[in-house]
Amino acid sequence: MADKVRVAIVGLGFGAEFIPIYQRHPNAEMYAICRRDRTELDACGDRFGVGVRYTDYDELLADPDVDAIHINSPIADHAPQSIAALKAGKHVASTVPAATTIDECRQLVEEQRRSGKVYMMMETVVYSREYLFAKELYDHGELGRIQFLRGSHQQDMEGWPGYWEGFPPMHYATHCVSPCLAILGKHAEHVVCHGSGRIDESLIPKYGSPFAVETATFKLRDSDVCAEVTRSLFDTARQYRESFDVYGSKKSFEWQQVENDEPVIHTRSTRERPLSEAEIPSRVKVPDYAHLLPEEIRLFTQPAAIQDADHLSFLQGGGHGGSHPHLIHNFLMACTGRQAAMPDVETSVNWTMVGICAHQSALQGGEKIAIPQF
Ligand SMILES: NC(=O)c1ccc[n+]([C@@H]2O[C@H](COP(=O)([O-])OP(=O)(O)OC[C@H]3O[C@@H](n4cnc5c(N)ncnc54)[C@H](O)[C@@H]3O)[C@@H](O)[C@H]2O)c1
Repeated sequence: MADKVRVAIVGLGFGAEFIPIYQRHPNAEMYAICRRDRTELDACGDRFGVGVRYTDYDELLADPDVDAIHINSPIADHAPQSIAALKAGKHVASTVPAATTIDECRQLVEEQRRSGKVYMMMETVVYSREYLFAKELYDHGELGRIQFLRGSHQQDMEGWPGYWEGFPPMHYATHCVSPCLAILGKHAEHVVCHGSGRIDESLIPKYGSPFAVETATFKLRDSDVCAEVTRSLFDTARQYRESFDVYGSKKSFEWQQVENDEPVIHTRSTRERPLSEAEIPSRVKVPDYAHLLPEEIRLFTQPAAIQDADHLSFLQGGGHGGSHPHLIHNFLMACTGRQAAMPDVETSVNWTMVGICAHQSALQGGEKIAIPQF
């Protein structure tokens, strides 16, 4: 396999944040960019010095020099563009969620298997420093047996592009679902979800979804563990939060309540090692996992370094828990055959289908829905 992957990025809002990371990664050539608006496309290409530019996605797919496509277009385009790219023989990285229907999920799995190309959903939370820290605690036996998992993703999307208005909260649930499944390396088996509250009447007809909050519990396959996730997008007061809590038999990890707080570790009091109530919780400083990355892209885990770096001040790459360089590194290692994509296609669609099936459950008053397996 080639040692350098020629990458094209589609969608240059959030997508533009990845350009300077690919430009510095030793195994990538940041080859092409694509968006429909010619003026904006050229502005982005000029800013980052990317010469090959497409306004038409099909023309990009026809370019034989493109090895891999990183998709950052609006949600409804993720699956159709990913399927088309796999059919064109390209590796695919897709921002979340992978798809909006079960049928698209099935097609993604089929096309990935048929093409033999890499498919990876670029889930930021499972490369955030908080998740990497919790995973490390678990892998080192510090948490003991995992008893329960919880995730939340609350955001106020008022004022965002029109396709977000009235979007069913659980159709974008991968940020809270994924850490609950990834830490145990399991897939979800079935889900129960309730819708709660009501969004502004004018937003409801857009997707036929009335709920302000959707809250789901799902069971992990081949495990006795359950997880609970909560999502809100409109008309619910909450600072932006992605969170992940893991409750173990020895220690538990709880994500910070608000931005700039620190997470908390709760240590179980035992007869052999009794602790007072005050001693059970302690704030913890989560380390930086930059050492896992090639030297050239380590600065992208650091918000401060990014602020200082030349012409990078608009980037929020240190946001999302410093995950962006880890995602790119894993994707490139998969494209060059060095390691498997994490998440692979089956895992990407399982994480996505928890949300799709959860919304279906909420619309059916909390029916239990089995998550399909492909
Ligand atoms: N933490 C995360 O993982 C995270 C964070 C932010 C955004 N996202 C995802 O990234 C995606 C993009 O978010 P955004 O805020 O930049 O959205 P946006 O609507 O502002 O930008 C979408 C981009 O896609 C381009 N585009 C749309 N249709 C296209 C087509 N057919 N061909 C080529 N380009 C096309 C647009 O020109 C624009 O550049 C969303 O799906 C969102 O879910 C994920």
